[in-house]
Amino acid sequence: MTTVEPRTSGLEQPQLPNLLVDAVVRPDEFPADFVWGTATAAYQVEGAVAEDGRTPSIWDTFAAEPGRIRDGDNGEVACDHFHRYVDDVALMRGLGLGAYRFSISWPRLFPHAGGALDPRGAGFYDRLVDELLAAGITPWVTLYHWDLPQYLEDAGGWPARDTAGRLADLAEAVGGLLGDRVGHFITLNEPWCSAFLGYGSGIHAPGRTHHEAAVAASHHLLLGHGLAVEALRSSAPDAQVGTTLNLYPVQPGDDSAAAADLTRRIDGLHNRWFLDPIFRGEYPEDVRADLGPLLRADLVREGDLATISAPLDFLGVNYYTRHIVRSSPYPGTNLGEFGHRGLPRAANGWEVDPSGLTEVLVRVARDYTPLPLHVTENGSAWFDEVAADGSVTDPDRLAFLASHLAACARAREAGADVAGYFAWSLLDNFEWAEGFAMRFGLVHVDFATQRRTVKASGEWYARFVRAARGDILTP
Ligand code: FCB
Repeated sequence: MTTVEPRTSGLEQPQLPNLLVDAVVRPDEFPADFVWGTATAAYQVEGAVAEDGRTPSIWDTFAAEPGRIRDGDNGEVACDHFHRYVDDVALMRGLGLGAYRFSISWPRLFPHAGGALDPRGAGFYDRLVDELLAAGITPWVTLYHWDLPQYLEDAGGWPARDTAGRLADLAEAVGGLLGDRVGHFITLNEPWCSAFLGYGSGIHAPGRTHHEAAVAASHHLLLGHGLAVEALRSSAPDAQVGTTLNLYPVQPGDDSAAAADLTRRIDGLHNRWFLDPIFRGEYPEDVRADLGPLLRADLVREGDLATISAPLDFLGVNYYTRHIVRSSPYPGTNLGEFGHRGLPRAANGWEVDPSGLTEVLVRVARDYTPLPLHVTENGSAWFDEVAADGSVTDPDRLAFLASHLAACARAREAGADVAGYFAWSLLDNFEWAEGFAMRFGLVHVDFATQRRTVKASGEWYARFVRAARGDILTP
């Protein structure tokens, strides 16, 4: 396999080895009822941040702080999906995609602390769902994809227990609003990121750096998930309910005892800290011990774990890369560092490793749950170029996509009930702290004109999906 040198400066285009994509995955490896979709999130695509009564979320506040986001970007306009959703749904329909995962902007529905559901915000999601259904596209709704209302952060944010109850209120309202038409709800997107990037490292909103607060946030996100499941069971009794975790295989980068222990700790906090309470009703003992005093004695209360482990209908798995952990370059500390193995790397530096997707899916199926698993996000960023004729040819993204679909097929062969795949993302969009520099879309967005152009990878995905459904014979 060809390898790519790590990106050291500038934004030059790395290259994936030119995979023979048809050789690695075939459409007939997936059942006819497999769910094929794309995913987005409200703050990353909607724009219209002050329209129809919407108030700021933590991402609006964070993006307004100098130095937080690459190039000073923000989501004020993003893909202007709020105004262009009809065209965007038509685009999906044209591609023949069967499902669309999007998230609800919490401060659009509930712009004020303790206030009522805003009918204008509700109207947007009502119309979006109707448009999708009319186009034959199944909506998958994520309740919380990181855009906490600023007023809830001001009241303590996720480190405050009360926020969990507010998520349940949101679930109750969204279930009531959309439950007659939406059959799939996802409570949280990647709670690890919300807790540990938002309150620990501070690279995501709200940008706090307080480890005890991050641990408290992780528990309250999980508690909020459990309470939201209960709320959805009553407000949308016919819907399937699940949640989405970002799972990484974690493996040692050297054979030292220190690297082995770091691997256990990072796998513990990243993967098991979320999987164990949801599927086993307990936090892993070794991680509790690692956290020591960061885990406040009064944090986990009686009954919380029963709430968190409420039965689900599916699990969403987001997968991007694998973590390689090396022991500390600073002797005498327990720090570690993430390493690379010389595999091809995408534009944002993440190593391309499809086998890791097979691994996480098989692990969940083997160790945690027989439930259907949906890959609710998977994708890659590359520095796309628009050709003179307006087309965007993106062989690296196409190869990434094909090789990860192959990874799903391998997981199915190994017995994991992988039932759906949502490419991240439908559109190039606001990639959090990376701003607009990292393009993940199957559809290119010219942010100056909002012009959409389906990339070669998007065309390939559309053909693959049609072939998998049996609409056409070969992709
Ligand atoms: C995931 C996020 C998603 C997107 C991708 C690239 O962690 O859930 O919103 O930014 O990364």
